[in-house]
Amino acid sequence: MRGIGKLRGLGSLLSKNLGEQPIIDGTRGISNSTDLKSVLAEKIPQQQERLKAIKKSYGSKQMGGVSVDMVIGGMRGITGLLWETSLLDPDEGIRFRGYSIPELQEKLPSAIPDGEPLPEGLMWLLLTGELPNKEQVAALSADLRSRAALPDHVNATLKAMHPNTHPMTQFSAGVLALQPESTFAAAYEKGINKMQYWDPVYEDTMNLIAKLPALASTIYRNVYKGGDLIEADPNLDWAANLAHQMGFQDQETQELMRLYQTIHTDHEGGNVSAHATHLVGSALSDPYFSFSAGLNGLAGPLHGLANQEVLSWLFRVRDELGDTPSKDQVKDFVWATLKSGRVVPGYGHAVLRKTDPRYACQRVFAMKHLPDDPMFRLVSLFYEVVPSILQETGKVKNPWPNVDAHSGVLLQYYGIKEQNFYTVLFGVSRAIGVLSQAVWSRALGLPIERPKSVTMDVIEKKFSGT
Ligand SMILES: CC(C)(COP(=O)(O)OP(=O)(O)OC[C@H]1O[C@@H](n2cnc3c(N)ncnc32)[C@H](O)[C@@H]1OP(=O)(O)O)[C@@H](O)C(=O)NCCC(=O)NCCS
Repeated sequence: MRGIGKLRGLGSLLSKNLGEQPIIDGTRGISNSTDLKSVLAEKIPQQQERLKAIKKSYGSKQMGGVSVDMVIGGMRGITGLLWETSLLDPDEGIRFRGYSIPELQEKLPSAIPDGEPLPEGLMWLLLTGELPNKEQVAALSADLRSRAALPDHVNATLKAMHPNTHPMTQFSAGVLALQPESTFAAAYEKGINKMQYWDPVYEDTMNLIAKLPALASTIYRNVYKGGDLIEADPNLDWAANLAHQMGFQDQETQELMRLYQTIHTDHEGGNVSAHATHLVGSALSDPYFSFSAGLNGLAGPLHGLANQEVLSWLFRVRDELGDTPSKDQVKDFVWATLKSGRVVPGYGHAVLRKTDPRYACQRVFAMKHLPDDPMFRLVSLFYEVVPSILQETGKVKNPWPNVDAHSGVLLQYYGIKEQNFYTVLFGVSRAIGVLSQAVWSRALGLPIERPKSVTMDVIEKKFSGT
């Protein structure tokens, strides 16, 4: 409840300004109900009132200026989106509803003692702002399991695609193939009142997230395992079932999947996949359309595809320099990459300015489970070498590793060798963040996005004095 709780100060400030009772009471008792939708339904009116009060009191205040560099530079640094589920601090990294990754590893329920957090727990937190207890997480797991079956026509759609189609293309197409099931699209067609939008968006969100392990694993099995599909295990949680349906039954791989699926969920609202989902959803395109759009952005090499690129790059190092290259050899390799006009994948970030905590927790996992793995050693060697080189270039704003610098090596170790599939795993997780926000975007009645664009002509005329 910290994300919402932190704002209690703002609540009393608003109440003073408005001469009303405090309007924010997100901390009024932690809900014990195991029904996620009813917990959410209780919170929505409070947050709607809160947003109304913010608009009334602060609507005309400025939140920072916009320079020409920002306009040209991909809107970098412009505060222009409301995103409730997480917030990124440049130095500290991501906080989900106010909680850091190490805090959540301690506080969220796990499947085994001292195990990794269950992504369902994070989903509960993102949707409600409340840390769930074990029973609530178990109920959400069960609800997702009950919605998880994939209609037959989806696999038929996937199979009709060219066999060389990249798994991300298949994933995005598979999500669209599910779109005819959208309860939001059906409700809109019937003329639903806009105050109720969040309800069918919630249903779509639950249905879509529930089906992603089956969809992703079907793609995996079709592309890499001859189309031999594996049924979901009714005793497993959402992330473990993903590993299980891909063909990985051992507990350690399932633990990795729980960690992986938790940490990739959300990274505030401005990154390409989150923003694309949000933008498309703002036109009231349903969650299937909007999440598919987000996936198309995630497929880019500067965004989610970087985890695949990192691994190809590490393999090139290994092929050229062997398993145990020296520091100097690695330095030369990094410089050669930069001089050939390419980026060092897995390093740098548009907002972060320190090592990504999502990288750090994967490193902790690796030190616990695979300390002597040669590829992990190589990743560690890059961690020692790359930042100072990127600093030396004088232009890279963040020389530190991001989430993608580590994930591939962990997946390789557990036998998930197919790099082209890695961004699909990222996308499965990302659904939890961007669709939780989609529920809130509709609950808060956020409008269609429409920033202003200008031509070069406009900039020249405005500032050259001509
Ligand atoms: C993530 C990324 C796209 C952020 O881009 P950004 O916000 O424009 O980053 P910066 O402001 O630091 O970029 C300034 C310059 O440094 C370069 N740069 C940034 N990260 C770099 C990297 N890892 N390797 C080489 N050059 C890099 C940029 O390409 C840019 O060069 P230019 O001025 O010649 O165009 C960028 O760091 C990158 O391409 N990283 C590698 C891909 C990756 O890991 N993506 C996953 C992100 S989670």
